Order: sequence, then C-alpha cells, then structure tokens
Amino acid sequence: MTHVDVAVIGTGYVGTTTSIAFAAWDHKVIAIDSDREKISKLNRSVLPFYEEGLEKRLEQYRGSGNLSFTDDLKQGIARCDVLFIAVGTPSSPDGSADLSYVEMVARQIGQMMDRYKVVVTKSTVPVGTGDKIKAIITDELKKRNLSFSVDIVSNPEFLREGRALYDALHPERVVIGCETETAKKVMATLYERAQAPILYTTIRDAEMIKYAANAFLATKISFVNELARLCEKTGTNIMKVTEGMGMDSRIGPQFLRAGIGYGGSCFPKDTTALLNLAREQKIVLPILQAASDVNQTQVTWFMKRIQRTMGSFSGKRITLLGLTFKPETDDTREAPSLKIIEQLLQNKAVVNAYDPQGMEHVKKIYPQVVYKLTPYEALKGADAIILATEWREILDLDWSKVKGLVTQPYLFDGRNALDPSAMRDLGYCYVGIGIGERGDY
Ligand code: UGA
Repeated sequence: MTHVDVAVIGTGYVGTTTSIAFAAWDHKVIAIDSDREKISKLNRSVLPFYEEGLEKRLEQYRGSGNLSFTDDLKQGIARCDVLFIAVGTPSSPDGSADLSYVEMVARQIGQMMDRYKVVVTKSTVPVGTGDKIKAIITDELKKRNLSFSVDIVSNPEFLREGRALYDALHPERVVIGCETETAKKVMATLYERAQAPILYTTIRDAEMIKYAANAFLATKISFVNELARLCEKTGTNIMKVTEGMGMDSRIGPQFLRAGIGYGGSCFPKDTTALLNLAREQKIVLPILQAASDVNQTQVTWFMKRIQRTMGSFSGKRITLLGLTFKPETDDTREAPSLKIIEQLLQNKAVVNAYDPQGMEHVKKIYPQVVYKLTPYEALKGADAIILATEWREILDLDWSKVKGLVTQPYLFDGRNALDPSAMRDLGYCYVGIGIGERGDY
C-alpha cells in the first residue's frame, strides 16, 4: 500500500484522533498546532484531553515514526501534499459557526504552499465553506504571483467522544466531498485501510451531511425527551415505549434514550449553526427548532419534577453524580449538569459533586460547589441525589451502602440508568425521566 504524507492542522480532539488513525494505516502524519504547550505535551506522548486508549496509540505511532508533532506550519505544508484542516469552529454570539480559525489556516496555506496541494476540511463547517477556503487560498497565491492549483475536499468526521479511536479506525462510512479525480484518488488511498464504504459527493453535500447527521440524532433524542414528558403524565414508561419503538428496524434502538438532554461540543453547536444557516437562506426548520427548544428546557422540566417530589431546594444538601456531558470523556461543554448546578445554586441548595473526570473543568465555573474525591464522600449527609451522567463507576456504586450514608432517600436519575425497582427495593424514592408519576415501575 502506498503511503500518503499528511499534515493535520489542529491537534484538538478531532485532529489528534484523525492523525493517530492515519498513522495506524501507515501514512506519514505531521500534526501541527500553534499552541506550543500542546505540542510539547504531544511530543512527550501526553494527551491534552482524556480519551480512553488514545495515549497508548500516540506513543506507539510516534515510536514507529509515522506520527510527529510540530508548531512549524511552514515545514508541515512543505513536506505534505495533503493538508487537513481540523481546527475548531466554535459558535459565534449569533449562533453561526465562527470560521475565523479555518479562514486563518486557509490564508496561511495560501501564503506558504509551494506546489499543488489537496486541502481537506475535517472541521465541521457550514455549506459553502469549501468555496470560501478555495477563494482565500487562490487570493493569497495571486498576491504572491503564483498559480499552483489546489483541490478542496470536505471529509467530515463522525467520531463520538469516548469512542473516538474506535470510530476513527472503524468508520461506518467515509464521506468525501471532492470535485477532481486527483483529489478523489488521493483520498481513496488515504482511506484504503479503513475498510468502510466511501460515499463520494460534492463538497457542499459533504458539508451538509455532517450537520444533517448531527441534527437528526439530536432530533431523535429530543423527540423521546418530549415524549417522556407525556409518559410521565399518562403513567407510561418511556423506557418501555422506546424499547418497543426501537425494535422496528425502520426506527432502530439507538439515540432513543430519554434523559436530561444532549450536551457536548457538537449537537448544541451544530443544531444552532444549521438553524442559523437556514435563517440566512430564509428557510424555517420548525422540527429542528423544536428539537433545540426541547433540549433547552429539559433540565428545567426535570428540576420542576424534582421540586414537586422533595419540596424547596433551599438549604438542602444535594449531591450531583456526574458532570461531564456523557461518560468516558472529561468534556463538560454544554453539559446538562451545568444547568442543574446553576438552578440548584439559584435556589440556595448546598451542592456536592463527584465526577471521575470532569471536576477540574467545572470547578473553574462553579467554585461554590463542594467537589469530593470519591462518590461516597460526596454522598454523605445528602438530602437528595441527582444522577446527571451515567458513568459505569457511578452505576456500580454500592447503592445499599449509599442508602446508609444519605439523610433522605431521594434519588433522581436524569439518565434512566439505574434499575427503578431495585432502587425502590433498597428504600429509595426513585424518580427517573418519563417514568409515570402514578406508575409503580
Ligand atoms: C456526536 C455524534 O454522535 C458524532 O457522530 C459526531 O462526530 C460528533 O457529535 C461531532 O460532531 O463531532 P458526541 O458529541 O461525542 O458525538 O456525543 P454523542 O455520543 O452523540 O452524545 C451526545 C449527547 O447526546 C450526550 O450528551 C448524550 O448523553 C446524549 N444522548 C445520546 C442522549 O441523551 N440520548 C441518547 O440516546 C444518546
């Protein structure tokens, strides 16, 4: 198999994982970042974020010579024919994707490139960004009186945090938006070892596919969360309802788990960006708008349910179990736990918290919360427990021991992750999401 020399610009979560996957497939990868501290960490095989299994691979492929890290963009551009842009696209205040990092990298590529290049966007970018990147690069080349050709490709990522390495190495599909045979050939070589179906599209279609996939998954979650509200009122159980729905292969069982809403760096940001794109095109997307609205209000809906059960939060000691937006990550961006903390503090509760990975991040935002090193310490003397993230470690607690530690037996499961009848047998007053108020599941 021929190897490709690839530069990956941006060593965040996506850039680093993508670099490791390409290195695993025996390509020669230079990962580049302007953040020297990050590069120095990566050069010592230390990951700047938590992701199971990734650090070991980082060491392995650095050792094999397939993967190196640098802050020297010029060197990376000179050595490689394929340049991946994997920098962040955060939300602008108006909700649109902030493309300033992507545009800056495109400008630098135009200023530094010395021959034909394939420039691939891995970052999640709105439709039309490929055209913008091309225009920026061509413009910079013109300023230098050069006219090398450049092929733009859109190759979105579908990595799930916590499973990023697996997803990168075993993608269910690879989407490649490209418009020349040369670029198509290079990309086919790059993904030869992925053993995944490749869908070739236009650049714009590929850009849209990424947003559409995330928006659809977010909508699936909000649909069941909305239904959960009705289940609660009608004495039905959303867990059973979604089980029955998911057995229909046209619906499928995934992303039907009701809870306190989706968080993370992708779903909230990408749905907002897609809604913004629609607004720019003077199109309304009422379904996606509703999905976003349901998600915005899901925590408040659950907190009201909690208050109905235990009364006012004022002066109560409440223990929050789980802070990250989902298990197996240290990412707390847009995590529902943050909204829970906010509402508890506003209502004068005393908040204790435990999370296996996310406490450092949340400490910076909410220093008023008492963070404990073990879940048992966090649970001592609690008037209520709120489970916000279904970490295995939390689900596997000795719940009978916990019962002896707490002052009151209120257990609010924001992820429907515990067994309601087992918890009730232990004497807890268990409340899940969308599990009928009058039901005795
Ligand atoms: C998501 C997509 O799943 C990836 O395919 C995509 O590549 C990524 O965004 C991205 O755009 O980069 P991720 O944000 O890591 O991945 O997290 P998910 O596993 O999709 O979960 C998102 C949120 O939805 C979490 O807060 C999770 O708790 C929640 N969720 C998920 C539910 O509430 N119910 C479910 O049934 C599934």
